[in-house]
Amino acid sequence: MENIVIQGGVPLVGSVESSGAKNAALPLLAAAILADGAVTFHRIPHLNDISTMTKLLAWQGADVSYDDRNRLTIDTRAANKPEAPYELVKTMRASSLVLGPLLVRFGEARVSLPGGCAIGARPIDLHLKALEVMGAEITVEHGDVIAKATHGLKGGYIFFEQVTVTGTENIMMAAVLADGETILDNAAREPEVVNLADSLRALGAKIEGDGTGTITIQGVSSISGGDIYTIADRIETATYLAAGLITGGDVTVTKTDAKYLDAFLAKAKESGAEVEVGDDFIRCAAPHGLKAVNIHTMPHPGFPTDLQAQFMAMMCVAEGTSLISETIFENRFMHVQELIRMGADIQLDGHTAVVKGVAKLSAAPVMATDLRASASLVLAGAAAEGETVISRVYHIDRGYERIEEKMRCLGAKIERHYVS
Ligand code: UD1
Repeated sequence: MENIVIQGGVPLVGSVESSGAKNAALPLLAAAILADGAVTFHRIPHLNDISTMTKLLAWQGADVSYDDRNRLTIDTRAANKPEAPYELVKTMRASSLVLGPLLVRFGEARVSLPGGCAIGARPIDLHLKALEVMGAEITVEHGDVIAKATHGLKGGYIFFEQVTVTGTENIMMAAVLADGETILDNAAREPEVVNLADSLRALGAKIEGDGTGTITIQGVSSISGGDIYTIADRIETATYLAAGLITGGDVTVTKTDAKYLDAFLAKAKESGAEVEVGDDFIRCAAPHGLKAVNIHTMPHPGFPTDLQAQFMAMMCVAEGTSLISETIFENRFMHVQELIRMGADIQLDGHTAVVKGVAKLSAAPVMATDLRASASLVLAGAAAEGETVISRVYHIDRGYERIEEKMRCLGAKIERHYVS
């Protein structure tokens, strides 16, 4: 077992580089299934979720080779098992991103249903309905989705009842090689969706409208191999900026892009942060502390649910009371009890957390419960005086590359301890 141990209470100051985005890299890797040639992926973050996806592709018969830590080449031409077994899918819901690509390429796919996860039930019913519109026959047997498209997938009109990020990506990938035109309405507008569309276009796909609520895909008979580039991780970027803000420090994140973070930066400014934005960097400082502001999470371009926990940590030490509403996931407040252990004053009222700022947080042993909740505990630990020990840090390793090293670049006293 591993713990992260932080000696907090020091303003964090300095500069760190953003990694490639986990949530962009996962669908990009799944897109390799569609390519009739080797695809080289650049700026892939070195993370547990990424290893799960590459293991899955290799298990299906793809040739996966790392050129260096962040660049790998995948050739799926020899792949012959259109399946994703439970052992691999259970650790990462995003494994279901292979369903659309496998089905359109092989005419059949068997993908284990992702289980519930800490932040809510998270079904994939909207992915399945969309594939049915495209002509798939879908059954669920022994916990596996069995999808068949004996005569191939056909384009169609799909309206997502709810905005779904991986749903949009899954169906966009299936539509690339489907017969005819597919229209995705109420599609997700996240930058990671645009990164996927850009990359598929670079390999020969015909896609328009990504970044808006309506995406149109004209099916083509094949797409080629080539080079694909992952965008900066906006969630990681904002987490380090929040580390500066919560400690009253001054942090710059480089190799990133402020246009992905409008909602977060607007809220940071509203709470009193100084924000400076350049072509490929963002700097945030809070020399006079933070004021309480309200947020509610929304699909992009709204405030991202993946930053709700980190922003709540900031609000724990802000002056005044903030209301934080979670509208995307039903159970994404697992960090609240842990923050309360560190002296935060938070009350839950349904989907809203009422956070009364306190002058100081105090260090405590806490437990990471999900990926972004863990990040909020690292931030709280950096702000709290004394030694905070965070257990179950495997959650953090799913989504933050070299987190201790990057936090140390900012002056944090943070270590990983291996305990038996
Ligand atoms: C993606 C992100 C995740 C982020 C989330 C919301 C990846 C790998 N993960 O997750 O980090 O927190 O977007 O921004 O990109 N829903 C259904 N049925 C479906 C699909 C979704 O009811 O078929 C619901 C979900 O339970 C949730 C909401 O729709 O309440 C949004 O989920 P969705 O956008 O699909 O999240 P993910 O794509 O899984």
